[in-house]
Amino acid sequence: MAIPIMIDTDPGIDDAAAISIALTHPVLDLKMITTVHGNVNIHKTTSNALQLKAFFNSDVPIHQGVATPLINQPVDAEHVHGETGMAGFEFPQADYDLLTSDKAVEAMKETLLNSDESITLVPIGPLTNIALLLRTYPEVSRQIKEIVLMGGSAGRGNVTPAAEFNIYCDPEAADIVFNSHIPITMVGLDVARGASLTYEAINKLQEKNQTSHMLYHMFNHYRGDQFGDGIAVYDAYTILYLLYPEKFSVADANVKIELTGTYTKGETVVNFDEETTNAKVVLSVDKSQFITMFFEALSYAK
Ligand code: BDR
Ligand code: CA
Repeated sequence: MAIPIMIDTDPGIDDAAAISIALTHPVLDLKMITTVHGNVNIHKTTSNALQLKAFFNSDVPIHQGVATPLINQPVDAEHVHGETGMAGFEFPQADYDLLTSDKAVEAMKETLLNSDESITLVPIGPLTNIALLLRTYPEVSRQIKEIVLMGGSAGRGNVTPAAEFNIYCDPEAADIVFNSHIPITMVGLDVARGASLTYEAINKLQEKNQTSHMLYHMFNHYRGDQFGDGIAVYDAYTILYLLYPEKFSVADANVKIELTGTYTKGETVVNFDEETTNAKVVLSVDKSQFITMFFEALSYAK
């Protein structure tokens, strides 16, 4: 049976890669996409999600979420993903008739409470929508199987030496999520640091199918973290983890969010030695198989 999931996202070039797989892979049952501020503002992230929905001619509902973090001012990453958030590929203009609502938190609540099976949440942007969902409708917790999120790091950050972008954007929201007692799998920066998508693999994407051709052009405009011979497609690891969990190494940990540090705000403080744990932290992926997995996962796309 396919795994029921909901994606909360701020597309974003690596978000687009994750969404492309999630919309097309038979092992995943994507119930809805919700958008959040992050890489670009909420209007752009929503418009990007709508463009992806149209590209795949998908029926999956899209709901727009919140425009600002709980407390902070919004921070963006246009210098990484381009002014539109999905630089490098010319999509037709977003069709707002394809937007189901601008009430993402309520839509998540309704879908969760009306589902006869528990659902895995996959947040791949700042955690504002998810924190609001858990605080406003705590009864949804019993319907959430797990939260598999992209965010944080067991080592250094990428926005500051201490903090990773998604957590840095809204640390208070992350704090709510990590204290929720819902099973959490944290797919942080560590995974990509050990296995990047090589430039050789990116070149091969050009010809595989229409989706990989689209991603090829975006990856060539991605100005994010680059490790050795490739780029970090962070958000895609959450989806690959759901598809191939046995290929990843994971450790239980107690993860706390730094909320006050002058230089460390937004850091995920990952303690592997504490008895009480609140998350599984994904540390690495089988490097020799990562590229094969990525191509295989994309092979169902048009
Ligand atoms: C995260 O930040 C964003 O720029 C990416 O889309 C990813 O979700 C990586 O730190
Ligand atoms: Ca993202």
